[in-house]
Amino acid sequence: MKLELKNSTTYSSSVVEDRARQLTNYVQGLGQVAADNNYEAAEASINLPVDDELLSVVEELVAQKVSPKLRYIFVTGIGGSNLGTKAVYDALVGYGDVLSANHPKMIFVDTNNSTMLRFYVEELIPTIKEVEEFLVVSISKSGGTTETMANTEIILSALNKKFTDAEERTVVITDEGSLLWQGAGKAGLAKLAIPKMVGGRYSVLSAVGLFPLLAAGLDIRALRRGAADMRAKCISSEMVENPALLSAAFLSLAHDDGKSIHDTFLFNSELESLGKWYRQLLGESIGKEFNLAGEKVNTGLTPTVSIGSTDLHSVGQLYLGGPKDKVTTFVYNQNTDKQLSVPADRMFGEIATMINGKTTDEIVEAILEGVKIAYTQNDLPFMEIKLEGINEYEIGAFMQFKMLEVMYLGQLFNVNAFDQPNVESYKVETKRILEDS
Ligand code: PA5
Repeated sequence: MKLELKNSTTYSSSVVEDRARQLTNYVQGLGQVAADNNYEAAEASINLPVDDELLSVVEELVAQKVSPKLRYIFVTGIGGSNLGTKAVYDALVGYGDVLSANHPKMIFVDTNNSTMLRFYVEELIPTIKEVEEFLVVSISKSGGTTETMANTEIILSALNKKFTDAEERTVVITDEGSLLWQGAGKAGLAKLAIPKMVGGRYSVLSAVGLFPLLAAGLDIRALRRGAADMRAKCISSEMVENPALLSAAFLSLAHDDGKSIHDTFLFNSELESLGKWYRQLLGESIGKEFNLAGEKVNTGLTPTVSIGSTDLHSVGQLYLGGPKDKVTTFVYNQNTDKQLSVPADRMFGEIATMINGKTTDEIVEAILEGVKIAYTQNDLPFMEIKLEGINEYEIGAFMQFKMLEVMYLGQLFNVNAFDQPNVESYKVETKRILEDS
C-alpha cells in the first residue's frame, strides 16, 4: 500500500510535514505502547497484529468448530462488532459468494430487519440439514446492545427448534465479565474475549474479526502480517515514511481550509464495505461535542463513501461543480492481473470506438486519471492510496493505516478518538423506551 498526497500550495509537503511534526511526542508514545505491548493504553489495539496468543486461541477454536461441512456463518453484531469483518469478507469473497462452493457464506445480521430475519428463519434455516453446517457468532463489545441481543435470540431460537445441540455451534465474542460473557458461561457456550481497552471500531484484528474470518476460510495470518508491517511504518517518527501521520496531517489542514467532508472514493467496488468500515471509524472517533479540555466544539469530519466509476454518474457533478467542502482520498488497486478485454468482434462496433481492444483495467485507469485531472483543475484537494492487490495482506495494511491515521487525527482535533458518548446516549434512550412499552 502506498500513499500519495496531491501537492498544492495549501497542502505542500513542507506544510503537511510541519503539521505532522506537532505530533512528535504522540508518535513516540505510540512507539512505547508497541514496545511495551501495553494493553492498558487507549491505543491498545495496535498490539493486536503481533499478539500470538490471540492467534493461537482463535485458531484452536476454529479447529474445533469448523469442518468442511460448514455452509453458513451467522454473524450477529452491529457497528464496530461487524463492519470490519464485513469489509474484509466483501473485499475478498463477498462478490463471489453466490457460488459458495469454496467458502462458507457469512451472513451479517445487524439491524432488526424483520423481512431479512423471516427469510433466514423461514427459508434459509429449514434448508440446513446437519448441525455442522452452521455457526452462530454473536459479537458485542458491551455485551448488551439491543439489536444484537434481539437478533442473537431470534436466530438461536430458530436453530434450537431444529437442532438439539445448536449451543455447540455458537460462539460469543465480548468483553470479559460483560452480561453476555456471564450468560454464555452459564449456558456453556464457547467464548472469546475482546481486550478491555480495544473499542468496537478498533477491534477488527481481535477475535471479533479473526474468528469469523478464519472460520470462513480467509488467511488471517496474512491479514495480521499486513497490519504488523504497516504498524511499523505508521509509528515511525520519520515523517515521510509514516503514511498515517501524513494522511492525518493532510486531513487536518483540509479541515482548517473549510473542508468538512472526507470522501473515500474507492475505484474497486468490492471495497465498498471497507469504505463503510472507515466511515464508522472516522465518524465516531472524530465527531465530538466536546474537546479534551471539556469545551463544547461540535467538531468532526463527515465521512462519505463513493464508488468509482458508479458514483461519477450520480454525484460527480456535485463533487466537481458544487460546494468546495470536501477532501478526497482515492483508493484503487494498481496491481490488477485479471485482465478482461472488450471483445474484438463487437456487436456495436461503431459506438465508442476508443474502447476497441482495451482491457477493463485500461478503461477504469483512464476514468480515474480523468477524474484526478478534473479535481486538480477544480482545485479540489486529494490523496491517493494505491493498493498492491486486493488480498488479506493489503487489506490488513490498509486497516491498520486507517486506525492509526484516526488516532493521529484525534490528537490534531484535540478530541478523544476512543469514546462515543453520543452513541451511548441513544442506546440508553432506546432501552428506556422499550422498558416503558
Ligand atoms: O464503535 C463502537 O463502539 C460502536 O459502534 C459499537 O461497535 C456498536 O454500537 C455496537 O456495540 P457493541 O459492540 O457493544 O454491541
